[in-house]
Amino acid sequence: MNKDARPLRDLDEWEEDLLRRYPDPSAAGDRQAGEAPVAEAIAAGGGGKQTGAFRDYGDSAPARVRDFYRLNHRYQTVDFVRQQRRKYLALEQRRMSVWEALEFLNTLVDESDPDTELSQIEHLLQTAEAIRADGHPRWFILTGLIHDLGKILCLFGEPQWAVVGDTFPVGCAFSDRVVFAEFFRENPDWNDSRYRSECGIYSPAGGLDQVLMSWGHDEYLYHVVRDHLPDEALYMIRYHSFYAAHREGAYRHLMDERDERLFRWVRAFNPYDLYTKSHRAPDVAGLRPYYQELIDEFFPQELCW
Ligand SMILES: [Fe+2]
Ligand SMILES: [Fe+2]
Repeated sequence: MNKDARPLRDLDEWEEDLLRRYPDPSAAGDRQAGEAPVAEAIAAGGGGKQTGAFRDYGDSAPARVRDFYRLNHRYQTVDFVRQQRRKYLALEQRRMSVWEALEFLNTLVDESDPDTELSQIEHLLQTAEAIRADGHPRWFILTGLIHDLGKILCLFGEPQWAVVGDTFPVGCAFSDRVVFAEFFRENPDWNDSRYRSECGIYSPAGGLDQVLMSWGHDEYLYHVVRDHLPDEALYMIRYHSFYAAHREGAYRHLMDERDERLFRWVRAFNPYDLYTKSHRAPDVAGLRPYYQELIDEFFPQELCW
């Protein structure tokens, strides 16, 4: 398969598919403001125990999603991740305010149906508004607003498999609790003796900060905002697609006590990411003043991207 193929209809198709893998436990879908049973259940560690459902998921996933994961698992190698980090972590692509980045992300045109699909800004506002309605701290609301801004990597020409999808460590054995783990056999690192052991190039319980994660929108945005938000927010941003860890409990052997503590927040964030999308469009212009003030409270006028 062509490395630059775009198997997904659009980037959101990956997130829509996550809902099939991790259905909303509150079932009815439309959560009411002030009600947070899902967040609590997941924060307590009860979110990822349906291994049967997880296994069934693989067989029923649409071909486009399978093709997407095949590319992602094949090409996310230690060398690729190091190359992307050299390319992007100097943060020399452009300078933009947070709101400019939101508008830039909104220019991502894809083949989704413009009549029924919400724009990227609308999705991010839905996430932030749900967090706000539950009375969470201001930095948490802001995290909801910005957590997917790293998807602008797509606008820099990166293929889908290097922007979205579940993330996982490279440089050590791939866990079979990563979705479509069978595709890792096509990854050149699979047979590399340096990376085959459980901890690979890392020390046991040495903390995730030492670990190279597969490259995507999470890691990129973390580096853009790392000087401006509390650790809890930075963990939500950096690891929100690390489903093998925050939903399936894998890779604990790499984590230290700080990771364990802060992953509670990653789990608290996840339901807002997955279960707040509705077809009711938020009033972007009406909400703008509130969010601009929130952005100004934490961020300088311009950020380096
Ligand atoms: Fe995301
Ligand atoms: Fe998201």
